[in-house]
Amino acid sequence: TPRVFSGAQPSGNLHLGNYLGALRNWVRMQGSDYQTIYCMVDLHAITVWQDPKELQHATRELCAGYIASGLDPEKSILFNQSQVPEHAQLAWIFNCVARLGWMQRMTQFKDKAGKNAQNASLGLFAYPALMAADILVYHATHVPVGDDQKQHLELTRDIATKFNHDYGVDFFPLTEPVIKGAATRVMSLRDGSKKMSKSDPSDMTRINMTDDADTIAKKIRKAKTDPDALPSEVDGLDNRPEARNLVNIYAALSDQTADQVLADVGGKQFGEFKPMLADLAVAKLSPISTEMARLMGEEAEIDRILANGAEKARAIAAPILQQTYDIVGMVGAK
Ligand code: TYM
Repeated sequence: TPRVFSGAQPSGNLHLGNYLGALRNWVRMQGSDYQTIYCMVDLHAITVWQDPKELQHATRELCAGYIASGLDPEKSILFNQSQVPEHAQLAWIFNCVARLGWMQRMTQFKDKAGKNAQNASLGLFAYPALMAADILVYHATHVPVGDDQKQHLELTRDIATKFNHDYGVDFFPLTEPVIKGAATRVMSLRDGSKKMSKSDPSDMTRINMTDDADTIAKKIRKAKTDPDALPSEVDGLDNRPEARNLVNIYAALSDQTADQVLADVGGKQFGEFKPMLADLAVAKLSPISTEMARLMGEEAEIDRILANGAEKARAIAAPILQQTYDIVGMVGAK
């Protein structure tokens, strides 16, 4: 069976972009066709400083979010990255395979490091090599993600190709990105040119998976729009990034295409469409936030799930790392 790997960072809140771009597809891939492995990437989170107490809270809350969204610890392996040391071990090998120039081209590094890149951590720069290790330490073939991770997945293929070539082996597979649905890139509610993100200082830009119904309704009511009515076809959304975003969110939440949504709501003003969107979002998201809150009351259960998942993950990763060490020429006890 083909193997699926994906992950999210326990830094800040899980939001609607994470859910529609990634988590929902993770749930869909869970089941008989794939072996599914989903990680809370705490080692990635600390590439920018995290308060230790908040990191612990965010890791458990992310796990609660995974389960509340429909991931089942009996069907998928759920664990936090730091507890499977093979990720960091393979990442070191990949640091020696990847080229500086490849890393310098990563747009996410440029965005996150900002103007003062000299002050960014070395970990933030090396981040994509650790991500490649996350995936390849399981020989995962399919990686469901939002659109913003595309470049990192291309780099993962480059690393696999160069490793295989440098050592004359056919060992690491070329991973396929799985970028699916009507909302692979959910934008900020306040600025249609920026993606919805955990790190935006304004909470009004995103819908958090922990928001209550009133908060969700308020954020949608205050979402930026233009004064025109909705068009009846997607072409009419050109140069209307905020309108496009709300239509895409509606489409994803109702499992339709944007065209199908516009066939129904074309001609409506936002004053009429926004309450429809708010009702839909509340109907889809509030069962998840309720379940997250319940799970957060059972910390010991979450920790048990994570420990159990780490053990299962290690059973797959350890032999692949050992084979990698053998290929590279590391001497060790057998
Ligand atoms: P992270 O934590 O930023 O986001 C988790 C997932 O959510 C998706 N996503 C979005 N999708 C649509 N619209 C948005 N506005 C939006 N914001 C985030 C992301 O694409 C991602 O799928 N580097 C990764 C974590 C990672 C990983 C991996 C992923 C580490 N190792 C290995 C896959 C495989 C990240 O920072 O995701």
